[in-house]
Amino acid sequence: AQTPVKVTVTGAAGQIGYALLFRIASGQLLGADVPVTLSLLEIPQAVKAAEGTAMELDDCAFPLLRGIEVTDDPNTAFNGVNVALLVGARPRSKGMERGDLLQANGGIFGPQGKAINDNAADDVRVLVVGNPANTNALIAQQNAPDVPAERFTAMTRLDHNRALSQLAAKLQVPVAEIKKMTIWGNHSATQYPDLFHAEVGGKVAAELVDETWLRDTFIPTVAKRGAAIIEARGASSAASAANAAIDHVFDWVNGTDWTSAAIPSDGSYGVPEGLISSFPVASRGGRWEIVQGLEIDAFSREKIDATVAELEEERSAVRELGLI
Ligand code: NAI
Repeated sequence: AQTPVKVTVTGAAGQIGYALLFRIASGQLLGADVPVTLSLLEIPQAVKAAEGTAMELDDCAFPLLRGIEVTDDPNTAFNGVNVALLVGARPRSKGMERGDLLQANGGIFGPQGKAINDNAADDVRVLVVGNPANTNALIAQQNAPDVPAERFTAMTRLDHNRALSQLAAKLQVPVAEIKKMTIWGNHSATQYPDLFHAEVGGKVAAELVDETWLRDTFIPTVAKRGAAIIEARGASSAASAANAAIDHVFDWVNGTDWTSAAIPSDGSYGVPEGLISSFPVASRGGRWEIVQGLEIDAFSREKIDATVAELEEERSAVRELGLI
């Protein structure tokens, strides 16, 4: 029998956690034939709520779910972990400056990175969902020097999926007809959803829409969709974020020819080495690779440079705070 894969979810009692855990346990994260054990990491005040979720997981009698642990200790949660989904983060509260936000998240992702470093399985893969996701991933990575740097990634798959959906609606085509969508840069309002490499029925997507729509509707709609969801729902995206996390890990493990993920830059496309930035990526043999050889026109160059500049500023800020 196959050894179960240990999946750790931080912020397990939160709204994304609630939308995510049942799908992991049902086999959608890794595949319908892969048994899993779940570790739910929470802060002490939320452990009881996480235990309630664990009771519900039990009550589903998922055939692939071989064990559940609930803990507030990162060393326990990450002991032997194969897939770590870092969802719990410190949200920005009223009047909080960016430096305060980065500091507060450094206090979470630094120790979690160290706990992963000291306890994880050799094949550990880390996806950071909690915001600011790219820089939180960088903090965790820099606190885990013994883990290969490429194992630390951040989620831009929700942005990618939003871009697919917006374009499909505009062109009145099924989502599956769209290929080679790309989100570049930071998971923030500066992100660049790129239609100059996306293809629909073999044609370049940017040529199937008018320039005004691309520039003034498509890009801001995708980039500000998170805020629109909060406005409509009164709470931030949860099920769609969980869905994107499932997509990210499934493709990382099982392979894909093209999607978007924030991974450590090797300097490709002028993105400074080491920044955890979103790229067009493929996954082969369980590793992400940046899709190479794309031509970047002046419009895209400017957009990529702007979002990458924001990532560089965040990196400088966390360096100055001594978090990396
Ligand atoms: P939530 O507030 O419902 O849940 C967060 C949970 O994390 C809480 O239960 C809290 O107790 C827990 N937590 C806080 N610090 C922790 C720590 N040190 N260790 C373990 N658990 C800890 O938030 P929600 O809606 O589940 O969102 C989680 C994060 O995901 C937020 O940072 C949000 O901004 C981010 N997000 C990212 C998206 C992306 O596309 N990358 C999309 C949507 C949300």
